Amino acid sequence: MASNLKPTPVERKLRARDPLTVGEVSARSGIAVSALHFYESKGLIASTRSAGNQRRYARGILRRLAVIRVAQRMGVPLGVIAQALEQLPKGKAPTVADWRRLSAAWRDDLDARIQTLTMLRDQLDGCIGCGCLSLRACPLRNPQDIMATQGPGAHVGG
Ligand code: FES
Repeated sequence: MASNLKPTPVERKLRARDPLTVGEVSARSGIAVSALHFYESKGLIASTRSAGNQRRYARGILRRLAVIRVAQRMGVPLGVIAQALEQLPKGKAPTVADWRRLSAAWRDDLDARIQTLTMLRDQLDGCIGCGCLSLRACPLRNPQDIMATQGPGAHVGG
């Protein structure tokens, strides 16, 4: 009797194309439902609605979410991620070529941020044990040497 309830290969194939509920997406991606709603509110992902007004997601959403999470781990701002994903067809999974292109672009950003953070760390080394927090002398307070552009004379905050 139970074997009659087993889906046939054709039924299984059709179900594999069914859109996913928000709970299924959450379970498969490991991302909380609240985060999925947040991503949707920011335009990073999109859903359709079922007859009962429930969210439904194309299966390509899972690769799209993988791209979002990896980019977030690299510190790519959500706005930049959204812009990048806008270039992809709606509801389609990012292809291998899409991911290669996006990850190459984000690597350059990551290099730039590493360079900035390394410089900040080195400057912080000079501050440790100093404590002056001087607008004139401390490179962390005056990173672009703003005082130099304001000409001679007294300045606030020194
Ligand atoms: S606190 Fe003195 S140089 Fe930064």
